[in-house]
Amino acid sequence: MTVWLTGLPSSGKSTIATDFAKRMKGAYPTEVLDGDVVRREFFPELGYSKEDRTENVRRIGAMAALLARHGVIVVVPVIAPYQEARTQVRRRHEEQGIDFIEVFVDADLETCMNRDVKGLYQRARSGEISGLTGYDDPYEPPESPALHLETARTPLESCVDRLDTLVRLRMERRP
Ligand SMILES: Nc1ncnc2c1ncn2[C@@H]1O[C@H](COP(=O)(O)OP(=O)(O)OP(=O)(O)O)[C@@H](O)[C@H]1O
Ligand SMILES: [Mg+2]
Repeated sequence: MTVWLTGLPSSGKSTIATDFAKRMKGAYPTEVLDGDVVRREFFPELGYSKEDRTENVRRIGAMAALLARHGVIVVVPVIAPYQEARTQVRRRHEEQGIDFIEVFVDADLETCMNRDVKGLYQRARSGEISGLTGYDDPYEPPESPALHLETARTPLESCVDRLDTLVRLRMERRP
């Protein structure tokens, strides 16, 4: 299965993905495809226009499906701001009989701006960069995510617990 963690910059996607993958150790083969790493390693030519973001999500989705169809739990902490792009990835998974779990890693913009893990909001505020998701670029929240994690008021461990429970349940119910 693919577990896609979508949400604003600094909402907590990578942190939850890393902790969740640690928990899966020894239980199921698990791989994390983090947006930053994948972009840098595989398609550094893609930028942050709507077209490039959509293409980034499409390619990462295709990579995830390749792994997931061999039984790997693929965790994808990638902003993926557009609903249509996420829906396309879901469709491609379902066509191949692979589970696609959309998780909304949700924190309000103010919280994310206060965390500002990579300093991106600061750089956007000072005008050094533009087109930052949630700040001056769109973010379309999932309409019906399998899981909605509110990281501003739910401790990290509880978020990981909830994801852990959902994934194990789905794995056990597989035909
Ligand atoms: N419940 C929580 N879940 C996840 N992270 C949390 C939570 N509470 C606080 N945090 C903190 O919020 C920050 C989230 O940063 P993280 O790098 O995971 O964000 P991200 O969504 O991956 O951002 P980006 O899109 O820029 O990669 C970390 O410093 C983490 O410790
Ligand atoms: Mg991240």
